[in-house]
Amino acid sequence: MKKNRMVLVTGGTGYIGSHTCVVLLQAGYQVVILDNLSNSKREVAGAVGDVAGAAPVFYEGDLRDGAVLERVFSENDIFAVIHFAGMKAVGESVRQPLAYYENNVTGTIRLLEAITRHEVKNIVFSSSATVYGDRNPIPYVEGMPVSATSPYGYTKVMIEQILTDLHTACPDLGVSILRYFNPIGAHESGRIGENPNGIPNNLMPYITQVGIGRLPFLGVFGDDYNTPDGTGVRDYIHVMDLAEGHEKALGYLEAHPGSLEIFNLGTGKGTSVLELVHAFSEATGVEIPYRIQPRRPGDIDAFYADASRAKAMLGWQATRGLEEMCKSSWNFTCQAMK
Ligand code: WQD
Repeated sequence: MKKNRMVLVTGGTGYIGSHTCVVLLQAGYQVVILDNLSNSKREVAGAVGDVAGAAPVFYEGDLRDGAVLERVFSENDIFAVIHFAGMKAVGESVRQPLAYYENNVTGTIRLLEAITRHEVKNIVFSSSATVYGDRNPIPYVEGMPVSATSPYGYTKVMIEQILTDLHTACPDLGVSILRYFNPIGAHESGRIGENPNGIPNNLMPYITQVGIGRLPFLGVFGDDYNTPDGTGVRDYIHVMDLAEGHEKALGYLEAHPGSLEIFNLGTGKGTSVLELVHAFSEATGVEIPYRIQPRRPGDIDAFYADASRAKAMLGWQATRGLEEMCKSSWNFTCQAMK
């Protein structure tokens, strides 16, 4: 049982944040959620408590609201922060760059100012494989040069740099930068999962909405990529594996105070769009009609992780396969749409 340790999870009612809160609560941490509900629902905090068997404390608010940040840090003895809060749609970031820099970068700076003021010594940051840009060889390795192909990607590159520079200035601040690949799936209870507002940008929520008949067919964005079946290849990872990686990263910071490390959280395996569509039908018995469409601007042929560093240093690796990813996504969708 973990000593009573209070972790602030920004964006904790979001898709990855909510699953991470469940894992932290079940590992014995206390959890405080701060979320502005711009892309999630308040009732997720209750669902997290039901699933975990222990309730998080919830604050509605935005990182850029100094008053709410001050309240969170002065009303709770925060030991560590896991920072998910941010806008994350690549296409939207191209159309609204200022909103993305203001929300993601300025919001993070406000958070880091509060962390410094309240002498919190541990932060885990939700970064993304998008920082590997489109010129690195695959599989991606943590030491590779970073770049971006969208304002969203640049916010992740900038925040990683801000954390690195802050750690240089304050060497007792422990920093863990986690680069996610493509999270899909849901908690086995079906109570929490990926439930984006509007038309989904990402592949799996689009597939599940075709499956329940809310959308007529899946558009496959290009079948002329340099991949085995011509469709895009990605490293899909179960969101619960991803969530467990955060608990391991927190444990690493406790054991190595003041460290700064970067870890890929992926499976190390690539799966194409059509392979995922077929795996989904195999796992659920639900056929997904699709049509080949033109490539989506900004997409690249293939990327997946070299996850050996996280295995060696965190003792973490993904354990759930495509079948569980597909079944759990479908189970959540069926429950959420009941
Ligand atoms: C996956 C594959 C598409 C939708 C993005 C962000 C990344 C991270 C994860 C936040 C690609 C194809 C998709 C569809 C399709 N987000 N596709 N039809 O683009 O790899 O990564 O989400 O951190 O930063 O860049 O994920 O799910 O959008 O696409 O054919 O309707 O599915 O071309 O090959 P992506 P995705």
